[in-house]
Amino acid sequence: MSQPTTMRRVAAISASAITALALVVPGAQADPPEPNLRSEAPRDLKIGSAVWGQRDLLGYDPKNPTEFQRILATEFNSLTPENDMKWAEIHPEPDVYDFSGADAVMAFAKANGQEVRGHTLLWHSQNPQWVTTASAGWTCDEARDVLEDHISTVVGRYAGEIYEWDVANEIFQDDWDAGGVRLRTGANPFLKACAEDPVALLSDAFKWAHEADPEAVLFLNDYNAEGINNKTDAYYALAQELLADGAPLHGFGAQGHLSLQYGFDESIQENFERFADLGLKVSVTEADVRMPLGEDGEPDAEQIALQAERYDKMLEACLNVASCTSYTVWGFDDARSWVPGVFPEGYATIMTEEYEKKPAYFALLESLTDATPGKSPRTPPGLNG
Ligand code: G3I
Repeated sequence: MSQPTTMRRVAAISASAITALALVVPGAQADPPEPNLRSEAPRDLKIGSAVWGQRDLLGYDPKNPTEFQRILATEFNSLTPENDMKWAEIHPEPDVYDFSGADAVMAFAKANGQEVRGHTLLWHSQNPQWVTTASAGWTCDEARDVLEDHISTVVGRYAGEIYEWDVANEIFQDDWDAGGVRLRTGANPFLKACAEDPVALLSDAFKWAHEADPEAVLFLNDYNAEGINNKTDAYYALAQELLADGAPLHGFGAQGHLSLQYGFDESIQENFERFADLGLKVSVTEADVRMPLGEDGEPDAEQIALQAERYDKMLEACLNVASCTSYTVWGFDDARSWVPGVFPEGYATIMTEEYEKKPAYFALLESLTDATPGKSPRTPPGLNG
């Protein structure tokens, strides 16, 4: 009697599996896993990626991950919700919280032994319509009540599970904005309502977050905040003011959104050191390096090399400052990068749309490997146990 086709196929597979097993030399070891960013991270440095839980992690099955999820789990030991913990997503109506995207990030991190950076509690952007509308008539007390409820609810929900929170994000304008570098008391609805004493509001925002989760390390976070410049001078002064006021401010995050159109500010390490000298942790929180592309949509070899160098310089600054806690890329693949939606630029991440690792990836990998205990004088003694 002839076997049905499926049975024949199973029999054939079993036979080849047995042959393969027989070829295994007794005592021979399997190839060691390839080093990756996560495995090479020195001391307790977190190597992270942003991820949009609502888009990429809902329905995650650890036994059957997508290729994106497999890489996210393999390469990183820290995740930042790219959008899921922002006001518009997590608090869409006055009395409605939607934790679905944020919970998906937390669950993925837990399943893969990763930690989570919270992002963000006070920002001028991505606020829900109800905040934009209602805030026009807020007194400072009303704004404070709304912010306190939000911070207590969101931070409280994940208390003990989030190692760092970007409490206040992009609260200073830039040099090139009207009015120059100053607190965003125009665009940020909470700072606007409390414009008479915005620092008191900021101080309380940190206190509310600390009350809700005493273990979380609480950060100020901004872009164009890598080197020493007018904006980081303003942050430096604010940090001193908040600390003097007893605010539980613990960290300063430089986002690290760079473009090859501009130069690289070599003072990043010095900038980190001055915040570290205040007793703060520092982090690179949203690294990516974008560039204008040719007509074919591709970068040239020089751009690719320069991108690798810039990613690496930000990492080097972090490795060289003992209180640098984390280095996070703002997404790892070009298919999901926020950049092309906003700038006429691209190729900003460390992997292509097909997850091919770019020279930038290998530059990071090499620097992490060089910084492992015993290999590099950069590793401060005692940090690696
Ligand atoms: O809110 C809708 C959502 O309901 C809908 O399902 C979805 C469908 O596409 O659109 C959603 O809006 C998107 C939003 O993210 C999600 O909250 C917007 O289209 C999208 O443009 C928006 O972009 C994000 C951007 O912040 C918003 O300002 C990017 O993905 C995110 O990478 C970017 O991240 C910021 C950091 O938080 C702070 N630093 C700068 C960085 C880059 O801009």
